[in-house]
Amino acid sequence: MKVFLTGGAGYIGSHILTELLAEGHEACLFDNFSNASPAAPARVRRITNRDFEVVEGDIRDGAALTDAMTQFAPDVVIHLAGLKAVGESTAKPLMYYENNVQGSVALLHAMEAAGCQRIVFSSSATVYGVPKYLPFDEAHPLAPTNPYGRSKLMIEEMIGDWCAARPDASAVLLRYFNPVGAHASGQIGEDPNDIPNNLMPFIAQVAVGRRDALQVFGTDYDTRDGSGERDYIHVVDLARAHLAALPYCMENTGCEPINVGTGGGVTVLEMVAAFQAASGRDIPWNAVGRRAGDVAISLADATKAAKLLNWTAQYDVNAMCADTWAWQSANPQGYEES
Ligand code: WQD
Repeated sequence: MKVFLTGGAGYIGSHILTELLAEGHEACLFDNFSNASPAAPARVRRITNRDFEVVEGDIRDGAALTDAMTQFAPDVVIHLAGLKAVGESTAKPLMYYENNVQGSVALLHAMEAAGCQRIVFSSSATVYGVPKYLPFDEAHPLAPTNPYGRSKLMIEEMIGDWCAARPDASAVLLRYFNPVGAHASGQIGEDPNDIPNNLMPFIAQVAVGRRDALQVFGTDYDTRDGSGERDYIHVVDLARAHLAALPYCMENTGCEPINVGTGGGVTVLEMVAAFQAASGRDIPWNAVGRRAGDVAISLADATKAAKLLNWTAQYDVNAMCADTWAWQSANPQGYEES
């Protein structure tokens, strides 16, 4: 299949690209490299020994998108490009709505111009907001608590309306839980621009000596050990969920939200212990107050993905930590070093 990947040079995009190429698909990535290293595509070529097209562009640039999409003529679009920092979205909401929502409008217009009717969208469990019950299934009320999550929900609803207006259109909305880990080669991985917001890259940077200690945001939650519990999903499992969504997209019409998680939870302190075991490095930490907006527990009901996509997560927390460490220890400064 011919797959057009917006944001394809990013952490998740580069892992999806690697799996697509390994399965013999043709790919074109479209990225403005605002949150991706130009080195990443070259690493993917090294891992897969396959080539693909790269177009540098911004998803808000409708003309550039339409040109690239018309030239490549994809069977399906995987839409990953977007800003994704919860805290930043609260401080700069318009930047998030302009980039994420307006960019997605431009993308759908470009798809229409290129005659492409199928999209797999990178959504997020953040659309659920505060749990009314757990694990989250796809029927859980949608009540995001920050502009980033609201931008994701707006795009979900916009794609739903776009599909409703086009009988042949097809969309899968993949609601990611907590993506972590890296390709086992250690060639590609998560490389945040600044101080990592997320747990795993912060732990990895402590392990490799870039950060002194982890701040544990709250140890007074109602969980096994008082620290926050999340459904971490190995990024290669996540990538494979996208590949599993492609045939579903080709064979069905309509708009389908699907959780991508393991169904199991890991606490912050359990992740610290697992990373220490995987890396052999001590991870100093200190308990601080809860982070605003955090929930105690977030877990996926992943049965719909198993049923509709024949997909289930294969990698456990030990693999998540070992593969993250393979990446971080080989690239202590991230891609910049290469
Ligand atoms: C995980 C746990 C923190 C950092 C976010 C977004 C979500 C998605 C994934 C984009 C929590 C604790 C973290 C640290 C800590 N992103 N923590 N010290 O908040 O579950 O989800 O990232 O799609 O939309 O909301 O992930 O990794 O930030 O936090 O104690 O330095 O680790 O309190 O319990 P989160 P996270």
